[in-house]
Amino acid sequence: MAPQTACRSSGDPIPRTLLAPMSCRENLNWPLMRNNIQQTDIDALIHVLTPEVPILTQSSQVEAFEQEWSRWLDVRYSVFVNSGSSANLLTIAALKETYGTGEIIVPTLTWVSDIASVIHCGFKPVFVDINPRTLGMDTAQALKKIAPQTVAVFLTHILGYNGLDAKFVAELKERGVPLIEDVCESYGATFQGRKLGTFGLMSNFSFYYAHHMSTIEGGMICTDDPKLFETLRMLRSHGMVREARSAELRDSYSRRHPDLNPDFIFAFPAYNVRSTEMNAVIGRSQLKRLDENNKLRTDNLLLFLNNLDPDKYQTDFAVEGSCNYAFTLVLKHANPVFCERVMSTLRELGVEFRRGTSGGGNQLRQPYAKRLLGDTEFEKYPAVNHVHFYGFYIGNYPDLEREKILKLCSALNRLPLNEGPHA
Ligand SMILES: Cc1ncc(COP(=O)(O)O)c(C=O)c1O
Repeated sequence: MAPQTACRSSGDPIPRTLLAPMSCRENLNWPLMRNNIQQTDIDALIHVLTPEVPILTQSSQVEAFEQEWSRWLDVRYSVFVNSGSSANLLTIAALKETYGTGEIIVPTLTWVSDIASVIHCGFKPVFVDINPRTLGMDTAQALKKIAPQTVAVFLTHILGYNGLDAKFVAELKERGVPLIEDVCESYGATFQGRKLGTFGLMSNFSFYYAHHMSTIEGGMICTDDPKLFETLRMLRSHGMVREARSAELRDSYSRRHPDLNPDFIFAFPAYNVRSTEMNAVIGRSQLKRLDENNKLRTDNLLLFLNNLDPDKYQTDFAVEGSCNYAFTLVLKHANPVFCERVMSTLRELGVEFRRGTSGGGNQLRQPYAKRLLGDTEFEKYPAVNHVHFYGFYIGNYPDLEREKILKLCSALNRLPLNEGPHA
């Protein structure tokens, strides 16, 4: 066994007991997510199922969850849907209905549904590279790509890191370009002390099992704009006018379409992406412990980054205001041999991981994007290409033991960078 390398980063030192050589066969049993739906959530679910004639389709629980979420985030309106992808789709559809089509500036590192929503709604996606410290879009590049045909910038806050900066927010405002925030991976994170998801015209959240909290499947769209709120509510339910909150809006449609039954006026050719009372009741139960869990996650991330060897791994992420449900493990150098060592060590230790970080890395390498933009476009984005091959995420859940985090850092730090035998 190679000699131990002491931790060279600042922050919590690794206790001496954990620096003892660790058997490669020790299984840390560390999944991407654990225990994200708990007995209290199941109890809440059972409670909603017990009345003699339970109402389970979208009703008062959904409405209560939307209101509680709006209060938590500090926005005026929230619309609960059946996934984060549906939140993406409805947001961009509402944008199209309000602003018309054109170009939307998007990051190369994001989830496929962000780009799919842009394409499906008839916009042209204009890609930008990433900022390695936030993993979000390179905001300077995004500003440079704004053109007369730009309708919006659709930014994703990656794996808990804030992707905004003051210049970017100010310049978008000054130039009148709407910002849409995808906060599916980052809720609870802040910029200048304010929660992400409150800066954009609209923002998106996902409650998939592996995220900060879960409604099994689910998503939320948030906005302060009353007109967009009505449009989103209609788009969620087939485009039906009766879903609008405003009686005035509903009446104006009825007056203009006297030949139609007011119950069946379809303002938009839309979708059904509603969720159910069962998902909402789980969300309401989960929301009660979100802040507490997020604090634990933030402590975990700092412990992880502070104990990684900064000569081998990137440790200078933009942690201020961050709130991650996954640790980002990005190799400092493009070294395929070292990368193989890292992956086999994670496997040996039973640490589940995903290569490429969010969404599997550079979206432009995906078959759908190559069909759209050609086979070589992906080459133009070096920062995301590094993360595509040498970036990983691993789980960060509230009851993840500190001891496991330190053991993993110790094992990763011991790996040699050179071509020598596996340590
Ligand atoms: C950034 C981002 N946006 C959107 C989504 C889609 O969310 P969902 O899985 O709930 O459809 C995800 C999924 O993980 C995501 O990471």
